[in-house]
Amino acid sequence: MSTPIMKVRNVTKEFTTRGRGAIIAEKSVFRAVDDVSFDVEAGRTLAVVGESGSGKSTTARIAARLLDATSGTVEFDGVDVTHATGAALSAFRSNVQVVFQDPFSSLNPRHTVQRIICAPLEYQGKQVPRKRALFVGELMERVGLNPDHQQRYPGQFSGGQAQRIGIARALAVGPKLVICDEAVSALDVSVQARVINLLRELQRDLGLSYIFIAHDLAVVRQIADTVAVMSQGRIVEQGERDAVFDTPQAAYTQQLLAAIPKINPEWEVARAQLVASESIVMEDHS
Ligand SMILES: Nc1ncnc2c1ncn2[C@@H]1O[C@H](COP(=O)(O)OP(=O)(O)OP(=O)(O)O)[C@@H](O)[C@H]1O
Ligand SMILES: [Mg+2]
Repeated sequence: MSTPIMKVRNVTKEFTTRGRGAIIAEKSVFRAVDDVSFDVEAGRTLAVVGESGSGKSTTARIAARLLDATSGTVEFDGVDVTHATGAALSAFRSNVQVVFQDPFSSLNPRHTVQRIICAPLEYQGKQVPRKRALFVGELMERVGLNPDHQQRYPGQFSGGQAQRIGIARALAVGPKLVICDEAVSALDVSVQARVINLLRELQRDLGLSYIFIAHDLAVVRQIADTVAVMSQGRIVEQGERDAVFDTPQAAYTQQLLAAIPKINPEWEVARAQLVASESIVMEDHS
């Protein structure tokens, strides 16, 4: 057991929605996240799973301070950042980065990869290293991309490569925690396996912590150390991965596990081998 790098406590998020009544547009309050608490341990991966609409992304956005909670607290590295502003918020943003699901919609198609990767530094008013090409090249190599391709545009890359650009951009500010919101969900299985392997190598080499949101429980099993299961805005179960997978306590977790098409053990072994064998220096061309 390591110490938590992030502590989320009793976080609730309410959205006010306006009904579509023809005469009276009634306001109603919808609780998308309801009293959610969890720890992310340093150097480990917390996976968040649950059905569509269960509040995973809303929770992630609150943890990343992209959205304010209605109530509850977010603590990072022992500091309460729930209402951080100015320099404290800026420091938080360097420590916590997000990688989103659709790599293409999160990369500006009219900017070069070099510019995209440097963007978070500029947003935060940080100095971009004078040897920009060298800095970007190192990051690209780190994520398994050819550093000579930094003047290319996102459209010139495959889905897997584009997601690697998103990862390099997240790494540019030197974060300790990376939140991956369905970051591999849109990729083909073999490309997915390589990106997961990359994330694991980065974790090992840089000591990163992850919040990893995914629908696919087979993927979660590969990467998670701990798992939180969400349903209707609440965490219904959380714990060490094997405990959650092997002896699920909540009825909802049992249903979720039962709903995965019966995992073909041979396929699982093949997939695990693929993840273990793929090297990150290999560029993925799929
Ligand atoms: N800005 C918003 N205004 C109103 N309702 C919202 C807003 N953002 C999210 N919601 C609602 O909150 C609930 C949780 O959404 P959220 O995106 O967190 O779910 P999710 O678990 O990430 O789902 P998915 O697996 O489909 O990505 C949903 O019912 C969604 O419609
Ligand atoms: Mg989501």
